[in-house]
Amino acid sequence: MPGMLDGKVALVTGGARGIGRGTALLFAREGARVVIADLSADGASETAALIAKSGGEAKAVVADISKPEDVAAMLAATIDAFGRLDCAFNNAGINPTLAGVRGKLTADWPEDGFDKLIQVNLKGTWLCMRAEIQQMVRQGGGSIVNAASLAGLTGFRTTAAYAASKHGVVGLTKTAAIEYAPTVRVNCICPGWIDTDMTAETIAQRGDELLTRVPSHVFGTPNDVAEMVCWLSSDRARFVVGGAFTVDGGYMAN
Ligand code: NAI
Repeated sequence: MPGMLDGKVALVTGGARGIGRGTALLFAREGARVVIADLSADGASETAALIAKSGGEAKAVVADISKPEDVAAMLAATIDAFGRLDCAFNNAGINPTLAGVRGKLTADWPEDGFDKLIQVNLKGTWLCMRAEIQQMVRQGGGSIVNAASLAGLTGFRTTAAYAASKHGVVGLTKTAAIEYAPTVRVNCICPGWIDTDMTAETIAQRGDELLTRVPSHVFGTPNDVAEMVCWLSSDRARFVVGGAFTVDGGYMAN
């Protein structure tokens, strides 16, 4: 059976682990050549090696998506390796804990933690979109999927800058979607609780309590999210523009 992304060149930011790695692997299984960008050189190379081992083509790139010069180099490396960019998954992001902020109500957030989170999740996503859109417009088409979150659709206690950043990603997605359709299709995904390194501590501490809000009664896997991202990135989703799609086991339907 032909792959959903046969002949495409895909870029995944934050592809060293978690949802990004799962999506990079599925992109490759569906026929894409994949560039994996991450802060972690080892993790990105490991993902690329997993793809190569199963017969795919991949390239690992070290990049901090919050730095314009790194984003420019990431795009240049993609074009240098594979000649074009058809599908971009802007997935790299951090949560409050990774920004050094734990359990703080909105009025208690430190400025540096707030700035760090916005810099990576919101500005970083925009920097990637800017570079990707420029390339996709030049070559005549492409698809972008951004990683938002349920925290991009509703509030969660003690997530102030995270929720703000993810609501921002939804806003950026919708704005770019109407500006660049039909040449570049832009959508975002809003995962619920997915079992990754980012959520491991929270799931270990209060997993049972969290599951009471999830009608599916399980945590999602990176592959559950990858399936949605892969389809959105493919030509089968040609009429899907500017959407924010939950992948959450029914959480938001509660
Ligand atoms: P993770 O923490 O397991 O993996 C994130 C990857 O992004 C890591 O490899 C990390 O090195 C990379 N990264 C972080 N900052 C970066 C930067 N400045 N430049 C380049 N790479 C960077 O996270 P996970 O769980 O896979 O999440 C991926 C995305 O999905 C994030 O944007 C997250 O906010 C979002 N998300 C995750 C959910 C979950 O339950 N795991 C739920 C909703 C959204």
